[in-house]
Amino acid sequence: MIWLEHCGSTNAELLARDLPHGTGLATKVQTAGRGRLGRVWEGTEGNLFLSVLLRPQVPVAQVPLYTLGAGVLLAERVGFQLKWPNDLLDGDGRKLAGILAEAEWRDGRLDKLVVGIGVNLVHAPHPGSACLADHGVHVAREQLADDLRRDLADLDLGTVRERWLRCNLTLGRRVSIGGITGVAVDLAANGALLVNDGERTHTVITGDLGFETSG
Ligand code: BTN
Repeated sequence: MIWLEHCGSTNAELLARDLPHGTGLATKVQTAGRGRLGRVWEGTEGNLFLSVLLRPQVPVAQVPLYTLGAGVLLAERVGFQLKWPNDLLDGDGRKLAGILAEAEWRDGRLDKLVVGIGVNLVHAPHPGSACLADHGVHVAREQLADDLRRDLADLDLGTVRERWLRCNLTLGRRVSIGGITGVAVDLAANGALLVNDGERTHTVITGDLGFETSG
């Protein structure tokens, strides 16, 4: 595991280096953290900012299972539940952790997959977020980083769907995503979310999911 005092983004830092499968890189302070869908992930000292480099030989269609799997591994380690695809939320819907996977491809094959995990251990950076300490959950940052690094390097993709089903709070809920509003009815084998709008079932592979409160 590589630990830095500070860096812009652990994902960017790891993507820029040519390192073996299973290398972890974490930083104490992250100054230009990347979030999903072009957002920024704030790097307040005390929280966990970790990226793990994976170089698996798997079919392209299975790659999204790593990002779902990262959420599962985190939920299994620290508790709480997942909003599809992999946001860790508390019981009030406040975000505790986020995951951003970034890939580099060579000749149509996956060369590098960097799975970046940000966990609000002791600080909640936004009003709509929370941290584990708010819930009395105190986790040793270095130990969690080591555990997640090892879990990800060894992840058996064949177990991800079943494990995600056990710790998700998405299925059965009314959701909206990418202009579709309906009930999240299932998770496909490749990690896509199936949403039924009353007329048909849509296969959603990416997007920003919101929970609908009524309707
Ligand atoms: C999200 O928007 O929910 C994903 C946030 C991912 C943040 C983590 S922090 C460590 C890694 N490095 C980054 O630049 N981003 C990810």
